[in-house]
Amino acid sequence: MAEAHRILLLGGTNDSRELAERLAERDGIEVITSLAGRTEHPLAIPGSLRIGGFGGVEALTRYLAEEHIDLLVDATHPFAERISDNAAAACCRSGTPRLVLSRPPWQAVAGDHWITVADAKAAARALAGRARRVFLSVGRQELEAFEALTDIWFLVRMIDAPRGDLPLRNYEVVLGRGPFEANGERALLLLHGIQALVAKNSGGEATYAKIAVARELGLPVVMIERPVCRKAETATSVDDALSWIAARL
Ligand SMILES: NC(=O)c1ccc[n+]([C@@H]2O[C@H](COP(=O)([O-])OP(=O)(O)OC[C@H]3O[C@@H](n4cnc5c(N)ncnc54)[C@H](OP(=O)(O)O)[C@@H]3O)[C@@H](O)[C@H]2O)c1
Repeated sequence: MAEAHRILLLGGTNDSRELAERLAERDGIEVITSLAGRTEHPLAIPGSLRIGGFGGVEALTRYLAEEHIDLLVDATHPFAERISDNAAAACCRSGTPRLVLSRPPWQAVAGDHWITVADAKAAARALAGRARRVFLSVGRQELEAFEALTDIWFLVRMIDAPRGDLPLRNYEVVLGRGPFEANGERALLLLHGIQALVAKNSGGEATYAKIAVARELGLPVVMIERPVCRKAETATSVDDALSWIAARL
């Protein structure tokens, strides 16, 4: 019997899990999903799973060779820049075909009140004087950017409870893992008297409900735009990614 084709799937997103599920139905393909290890209890994913950083570009290049990886699909979050850069460099060195699976960014529609900014520091500057109660929908790593805003109360959503204090003066943590739907998001924003949101332009549907509810409630959204895209073959849906994989195996 022919050996299975081996795909390294860089994950940590709903799309990567869905792609692993769809590929598991196919014969002759072995999928290894790689997670950074940021969440304590990741949801179950079919196929093999490896957790933790590779140790940089050289180590990832070695991994691709040692594990006989035929294709790499980078389905990480659009804001996970470092791993995507490393994957691009490692695939270039090893000649491994690479696909980036990334949903298109959200676009503002009529009724949205977005203040578009480049990064978390600019988001903090945009918030000053605009609102007293803010839903901060960013990762743990970005919270430091908001620490000087001591007159704002923040609602922070996380998957795992933080182990220590967050670098904010006034805040409450709400635990939750997407996808989120509009009724829950509306109730959350109203319950906490939220006056503005900070969000990353992730694209996709799993976390869009808060943006739609902000529009409905007339709340401003400080929207952090994505880092600049580098050249890569890109799929914008799981179906597109499956076609790309099928064409190469
Ligand atoms: N950034 C976000 O807003 C966001 C949102 C939702 C989900 N996520 C997911 O969370 C994970 C970490 O995101 P990040 O923004 O912290 O990443 P990052 O800044 O791009 O990566 C930092 C380091 O973490 C390791 N790493 C990241 N993703 C990995 C993966 N899938 N498998 C193995 N190692 C990985 C790599 O370590 P080495 O250099 O040692 O290999 C990388 O250099 C990603 O899987 C991403 O899809 C991120």
